Amino acid sequence: DLLLLAPANSPLQYPIQGFTVAPLKKTPIPGMLENVTTGDIVKGQGKAQITIIASSEARLNILLQQVHYTSTVYRVRTGDLGHFVFEDHNATFPIVIQQPSVPILYDPGEDVNSQVTITVKTFLRYFELNELIRSIRKYYKNIKIIIADDSFDPVKVNGTNIEHYIMPPAQGWFAGRTLAVSQVTTKYFLWVDDDFYFTENTKIEELIKVMESMPELDIVSAAVGKNSFSHRITYEEGDDGEGGCLQRYNGPLKEPIPGFPQCFLSNVVINFFLGRSDSVRKVSFDPQLKRAAHSQFFIDGLGDLLIASCSHVNVNHQKKIHRNEKYLTFRKQTEDTENRKLYFFKNHLKCINLKAG
Ligand SMILES: *[C@@H]1O[C@H](CO)[C@@H](O)[C@H](O)[C@H]1NC(C)=O
Ligand SMILES: *[C@@H]1O[C@H](CO)[C@@H](O)[C@H](O)[C@H]1NC(C)=O
Ligand SMILES: *[C@@H]1O[C@H](CO)[C@@H](O)[C@H](O)[C@H]1NC(C)=O
Repeated sequence: DLLLLAPANSPLQYPIQGFTVAPLKKTPIPGMLENVTTGDIVKGQGKAQITIIASSEARLNILLQQVHYTSTVYRVRTGDLGHFVFEDHNATFPIVIQQPSVPILYDPGEDVNSQVTITVKTFLRYFELNELIRSIRKYYKNIKIIIADDSFDPVKVNGTNIEHYIMPPAQGWFAGRTLAVSQVTTKYFLWVDDDFYFTENTKIEELIKVMESMPELDIVSAAVGKNSFSHRITYEEGDDGEGGCLQRYNGPLKEPIPGFPQCFLSNVVINFFLGRSDSVRKVSFDPQLKRAAHSQFFIDGLGDLLIASCSHVNVNHQKKIHRNEKYLTFRKQTEDTENRKLYFFKNHLKCINLKAG
């Protein structure tokens, strides 16, 4: 991360940016030409330092064009600096050492069913879950539904193209989300809560359009009823000893998604979103967080996930939620001190303000 300044009036030509090599692989250094004459000797071949003395300018340029760089360590992503010294001139240029990764492709198939899996976590709420499934099947007859269930006495969930994963009891919300998302084989998954209800305005295809219009996007959220809340996060890294400071503000960033005036970039979004399976799996939902911990996933994903919040698609909350005392006793444990401790430690924070404004 060194700050490199290009020397003034240097007769040396060398790469400033974009010289990327694979680890351990011999690679010619582009643009290494220079414009003066001398003898014709090359010393230090295969070493970290090479000295070239040439009999003419043309000769020197030919020799310089044959200089290669080979990294001697295998790392997935690292860097090095090249120093290029001629008379009083000394130039330094960065070398990116990057093991190329293999692309992961998904067959886009014919329709939404081959692109999206619906994922849901449930706990003690089969009545609501059945309502949700009924409403999904009204609009999406064949889409796969993955359910992670940590109820105390699990009941078989009925219906076709449903994968029902039964977990040890009360493992918690994030553990269930991670389990459900880990089983997705499609490019995208749609996160829903077990008390949601699909309507004709729950158009998954519209969220796919936003995602495909901007391939850097990892998450595109929509509205639940009329609510499409989203937050911005500011984070100052602070120093190694004390840690950083994180604040959460209401509302998305100012930047709309081109072509979709109802969508804005954001940092934290509501629990109804289309996620890019690969990238969300890399961040993951930390299973240490059992219940109310909405922001933690987005805090963990800050700097890794590009997120947008849209308001032109929505899902509803079920109107009649069955009163369920057992469920409520668990639900009452809100974003508690235990979670806070985790934030401070895990994210190395000295201050956190989730209600900054
Ligand atoms: C070297 O200098 C000559 C003139 O002195 C110029 O024509 C030529 O373009 C220069 N070559 C490079 C690679 O800078
Ligand atoms: C050239 O500059 C680099 C970086 O500033 C330094 O490490 C290197 O020793 C210098 N070489 C010479 C010969 O001055
Ligand atoms: C699935 O069907 C069985 C047998 O009819 C029933 O006992 C069970 O409650 C149903 N599952 C759910 C989640 O409603």
